[in-house]
Amino acid sequence: MIGIDLVEVERFELDDNFMSRIAYEEEIAYIKKSKSVELQRQRLASLWAVKEAVMKALGLGEKSGVSFKDIKLCHEESGKPYVELFGIAKQEFNISHYDKRVEISLSHTKNYATAIAVIK
Ligand SMILES: CC(C)(COP(=O)(O)OP(=O)(O)OC[C@H]1O[C@@H](n2cnc3c(N)ncnc32)[C@H](O)[C@@H]1OP(=O)(O)O)[C@@H](O)C(=O)NCCC(=O)NCCS
Repeated sequence: MIGIDLVEVERFELDDNFMSRIAYEEEIAYIKKSKSVELQRQRLASLWAVKEAVMKALGLGEKSGVSFKDIKLCHEESGKPYVELFGIAKQEFNISHYDKRVEISLSHTKNYATAIAVIK
């Protein structure tokens, strides 16, 4: 299973209410520690793209009731990103993909952020 998302960075404002609706404190802290506002917006856009890509890979659409907080973006010491699943996303993973792993990769530029998720 695979999912991809591509977003325009300019759509994302560093709004605390928006961020706390879609992100965990640790995810917001990662964004805020970025050294420029431009990079903060790219990382917020990437965060959105990661969550959308994982939802697609899991086959979870709007009607499933999945929430952005069902997917948490984390980082290894090397900087390599990975996700932890909660709620409906975790349930779906445990039912349909219990013997697999979710792998993600993301990339961002001034204008675009993209993410891909693979369940294998
Ligand atoms: C990881 C790396 C390739 C990023 O490339 P880039 O073209 O500068 O930037 P991109 O926008 O394409 O990717 C950035 C994202 O890569 C991801 N990333 C960072 N380190 C990573 C790693 N070790 N492995 C996989 N992905 C990584 C992060 O999600 C990062 O986004 P963030 O900065 O918002 O956290 C670059 O930082 C690098 O060369 N690191 C050292 C070599 C390395 O560890 N390569 C990993 C693949 S073998």
